[in-house]
Amino acid sequence: MKNAELIELALEARQKSYSPYSGFAVGAALLCKNGRVFTGCNIENSGYSATNCAERTAIFKAVSEGETEFEKIAVVGGNAVESVPEKYCPPCGICRQVLREFCSCDFEVIIARTSEDYKTMTLGELLPESFDKREF
Ligand code: THU
Repeated sequence: MKNAELIELALEARQKSYSPYSGFAVGAALLCKNGRVFTGCNIENSGYSATNCAERTAIFKAVSEGETEFEKIAVVGGNAVESVPEKYCPPCGICRQVLREFCSCDFEVIIARTSEDYKTMTLGELLPESFDKREF
């Protein structure tokens, strides 16, 4: 699947964002190695720490459906009133670590505003010297 298509799915997922506290809407689309796509949005909570990020929503949906082999992820986020996010929204530290649980350092992270305006980074660039218990 092309990056532009995955970004479109992330933008669509962003429309489902439940973010009444921050007003910051995030969407993610995770492509599995077998071609399946899982999308996610951020889901906030009045007990703020119970909030779940868009990326983790997508990853947890995938893993709970039996998928653990991933190709790439697209992430879009910004003020909920903006239909096109003004800036790039790189994954938070916790989401980077959760991705690292299932993905190698060359996993591709697409950080996007629109299907034409995006940059790609590897998970290794976003999370250098990452902790992986399996290596000990
Ligand atoms: N958020 C995400 O969904 N993904 C990120 O990687 C960064 C932050 C959400 C969490 C919260 O609902 C809102 O953005 C503001 O922090």
